[in-house]
Amino acid sequence: MSDQKSKPLLRALHGEVVSPSCLWLMRQAGRYLEEYRALRQQAENFLQFCYTPDLAVEATLQPLRRFNLDAAILFSDILVIPDALGQQVAFRQGEGPVLTPIQSTPEVAALDGTRVVENLEPVYEVLRRLSVVLPDHVTLIGFCGAPWTLATYMVEGRGGTDFGRVRDWAYQDPAGFKTMIDVLVKACVDHLSAQIDAGAETVQIFDTWAGVLPEREYYRWVIEPTRAIVDGVRARHGEVPVIGFAKGSGVLYPAYVRETGVSAVGIDAQMPLEWVADRLQPLCTVQGNLDNRLLLNGGPAMDQEVKRILDVLGKGPHIFNLGHGILPTTPVKHVERLLELIKG
Ligand code: CP3
Repeated sequence: MSDQKSKPLLRALHGEVVSPSCLWLMRQAGRYLEEYRALRQQAENFLQFCYTPDLAVEATLQPLRRFNLDAAILFSDILVIPDALGQQVAFRQGEGPVLTPIQSTPEVAALDGTRVVENLEPVYEVLRRLSVVLPDHVTLIGFCGAPWTLATYMVEGRGGTDFGRVRDWAYQDPAGFKTMIDVLVKACVDHLSAQIDAGAETVQIFDTWAGVLPEREYYRWVIEPTRAIVDGVRARHGEVPVIGFAKGSGVLYPAYVRETGVSAVGIDAQMPLEWVADRLQPLCTVQGNLDNRLLLNGGPAMDQEVKRILDVLGKGPHIFNLGHGILPTTPVKHVERLLELIKG
């Protein structure tokens, strides 16, 4: 077995300045790759695709065959947790995820938190298979959705809303809403822990919709549950590196980092780079933050911004990534150019 700490991404997560910068891309497996679109045809629906180890292993490996990336991220989805808890989850073509909404405390009681790991066994099989085939320098990343972001889908029943119902519930009945958040915290700890047992070397907590909450609610529904997950995972696995992606946190990012104990923070594309270098990099490794739309468009605008990110954030502990997942119509040539700019 190779020395785990010699992997560049793990070194970056431990606070080292690695040169050239480490690079992986959120949603690096997906529809912008023609081989992904072909593979996707082999499963009836998206969840079935995630739960078929042959297909999910192959989807994870596809971007690594094309690009010299520093990490493989498990091919799965954040919504496997509500599915494993017994909520109805479906992915509809062109519509995204559709869930039978949960909007009151009695409905929370119907969620079964005791069988998450049993139900998600195929996901751990994917990680076990990946951990033996990945090249030595590639780090295997596991993940989950953060409780707040999971709750937005579970309560609204779909994406693309203004988060009215989930915020109304959280604001009007915090004690009731907390019963659901507590179920999710436990499910996340169990799921991440099983992923680490199966070979994940670091885990990322996706809090895509952290940025919709005002300050006090942000502490309660973003920071507190995330800290509970980080503590729960570390109680079982020691100092495993955890990446927190809390999109849209703005000036609350330093509080998020300090209070949750994450090893690295994923930042969105809006964050001013000098501010990040001054205020966040002294606290932890920073991951990000190229606008996914600049990658989609390519050209000089992308080149300039990539160089600026490397100039400003490359002096401290940094992992190059996007501010949000890669878009399905992104040309592969632009990803190739990005690798050239970063890896030379
Ligand atoms: O390559 C990777 O990053 C690993 C796999 C991965 C997927 N989803 C695959 C996927 C990861 C890490 C996710 C995370 C995820 N899923 C998030 C958090 C990050 C983010 O992008 O905000 C969220 C909010 C979801 C929920 C989700 N899954 C939505 C809203 C959708 C529909 C929108 C869309 O992009 O289609 C999905 C579907 C999904 N998850 C696809 C993929 C490749 C596309 C479905 C398909 O191929 O049919």
